[in-house]
Formats: sequence, structure tokens, C-alpha cells
Amino acid sequence: MGTVSNEEYDRKKELKAFDETKMGVKGLVDSGLKTVPRIFIRPEDELSKEHEIPCVNLQVPVISLQGIESKDVRDKIVKQVLHASEKWGFFQVVDHGIPLEVLEKTLQGNQMFHEQDVEVKKMFYSRGDLMKCVVYGSNYDLYVSRAANWRDTFALVNSYPGFFDPNQIPEFCRDVMMNYIEHVLKLSETLLELLSMGLGLEPSYLKDETQCTQGWYLVNHYYPACPAPELTIGTTKHSDPSFFTILLQDNLGGLQVFHENQWVNIPPIPGAFVVNIGDILQIMSNDKLKSNFHRAITNQVGPRISTAFFLEGVQSSTKLFGPIKELVSEDHPPIYKEFTLGDYDTKFRDRPLDVPGFDLFKIQSDANNID
Ligand code: OGA
Ligand code: NI
Repeated sequence: MGTVSNEEYDRKKELKAFDETKMGVKGLVDSGLKTVPRIFIRPEDELSKEHEIPCVNLQVPVISLQGIESKDVRDKIVKQVLHASEKWGFFQVVDHGIPLEVLEKTLQGNQMFHEQDVEVKKMFYSRGDLMKCVVYGSNYDLYVSRAANWRDTFALVNSYPGFFDPNQIPEFCRDVMMNYIEHVLKLSETLLELLSMGLGLEPSYLKDETQCTQGWYLVNHYYPACPAPELTIGTTKHSDPSFFTILLQDNLGGLQVFHENQWVNIPPIPGAFVVNIGDILQIMSNDKLKSNFHRAITNQVGPRISTAFFLEGVQSSTKLFGPIKELVSEDHPPIYKEFTLGDYDTKFRDRPLDVPGFDLFKIQSDANNID
């Protein structure tokens, strides 16, 4: 099996045929497919570059929140969070107080959604409908990416307060998902305080100034077993369009962060969350915090299940976001322009896929200076 260039086949037609099944990648695997269809095969130039970048097992920081109520411990945690967010843009959080059972049930609910009766699941299938708050789909960028990802997604969207309607979630996982969201929102508030303090701001600064806990996006990913993992990928290299993201992954592994020109595995730790800084906090911190590239590779065994909670802020807000005034000075002039979250979202969707979201608002960035 080789790679085939776009000219040699009617890619659009094959993408459309896949889209119209409304059964996602899981549907293909269930049909008994033993090879990777060409719409999923990564382009030759990408695959050949792959071997130049080593994959290593460095330790991504693991931070315990045990004892956070005491000032001394909290000060230590603040330093750890800041250091990890500057150096890696990634850390794992343990001893966060959310019961293991809540995490397990969430991943089970995720899996049950994807493995339910396909005719029922199809009714949730949607592409690009911004009015829906509960959507199932595969490859949101199917028609524009160079290769489709080996992944399906079931998403819960709260673009602004009042947008989300829990009754749209199938009953069998409704309480589990809502309970999970409540817990991760609380953890988000803690993380916002730690990050605010790390940046030398009042503990309540990020929450109060951004109102970011009022808008969120929960995505339940399902990565089916893949017959030829080296030809495709579960999630292409990207940085997240969020303030930060809290990821829960099962025990299979596959998540990698790009650190010092190497892919570093983020091995699952039972009961831990993976937290990563997103584009908006990189911009607000004027590049002090790092929104780092990451990806998910596929595996011959599966499915792999992960649930990502994106803290996104209120998409309809007219508030302007940009580098925090307290963090800029003559020596550290602002690197980014101001924008609304709605502008950010629109430009993020329209950008060439290899442009990271934070680049869209860089002052003096040549290729992307849009105004
Ligand atoms: C994401 C993401 C990684 C994973 O959803 O943005 O990076 O392990 N997911 O599913
Ligand atoms: Ni991501």
C-alpha cells in the first residue's frame, strides 16, 4: 500500500461518500475493513518527515493538588504550575479530589455513545451546524485537511450562558456528562487561580476578567483500532483554541506533546488529568505561557477513549482580549492585537490548518496580517 496523491483519485467524492454514511471511522472498522482507506493516509511529505523527529519518553510534569488549602503548599503548587506552563504548556494533575468513579463513568458514557445503535447515533450526526449543542461527527475539517483523522467525536457545546440544553444529551449518559462538567468547571476555577497567581495577578483575576468558565466545549473522542497506524493519525498536530484544556484519557496512550523538537509521550496515569495551556492564555500572557503542539497517534488495539474539556469563554461577548496590561511593558511590548472571542473563532475556522491559532493575531506577522 502506498500513498496516492490527490490528483490520482477523486478525493472529494470519497470524502463525501464517507461523510454520507454518518457512521464515522467506527462504521468503517465495523464493516470489516482491513486496510486504511486512502482519504486517511497522510501525505508522502509528512510521512517521510516523520522519521526525522524522535519520539521519546521524557517526564511531562506531574502536579499534585494535595494540601492546596494551606498557603505554603499552594505557593509551591503555583510555582510548579507556572514552570510547567512556561516550559511545556502541559502538565498532569493528580490528587485533584474528583472521585475516580466520576472519571471512569465519563469515559464509559463516552464509549457507550459511540457504541450505541448506529441508527440512533446517526440522528446526532452533523457537520458545521453552529446552532446545535449536542453533536456527533467525524473530522470537523474533513473537506479541507490533507488527510482525514482516525477518530470520531461526540461533542457538548456551551457557546454562551443558556446555549446548552442538557435534555439534548441521550438519557443514558446525561447525568454522567453533566456531573463531569460540574467537576471540571470547579477544577478549572482552581487552575485559573493558580495561573493568575503564577502570573503575579490577583487570584480571581483570570476568572473575573475573562468570564471564561461561562463558555465551554466538551468533546468525547473515540479512536477505533487501526489496521495500519503508521499510515494515518488519530488527531493531527495542533494547538488548542481555548484558555486551557483538561483532558481525560483512558489507559491505552497515544497522546504526544511537541517539546524541544521531539514528540514526548504523555503516558496515562490512572485518575490523572492532562492539562494544557491553549492559544488564548498564550496570547493574554504575552507568550509567557505556552500553547503547545500536540497530537494523538493511532494504535492497532482500540478503541482509545478520551474526553477533552475546552475552557473557551463566552463566544458572543463583545469584550476585547489581548495581552494583559500588567504583563506588558516597554521591555515586553504586546506581541498580539486585541480581538473578541467571536473574531478568534471565525478566523480560527478559516485559517490554513498548519497555522496555529495564536499566530492569527500576532502584531507584524507577515503571512497572517489580516487587516
Ligand atoms: C484535542 C486533543 C487529544 C486526545 O481534542 O484537542 O488534543 O488524546 N485530544 O484525544
Ligand atoms: Ni488538543
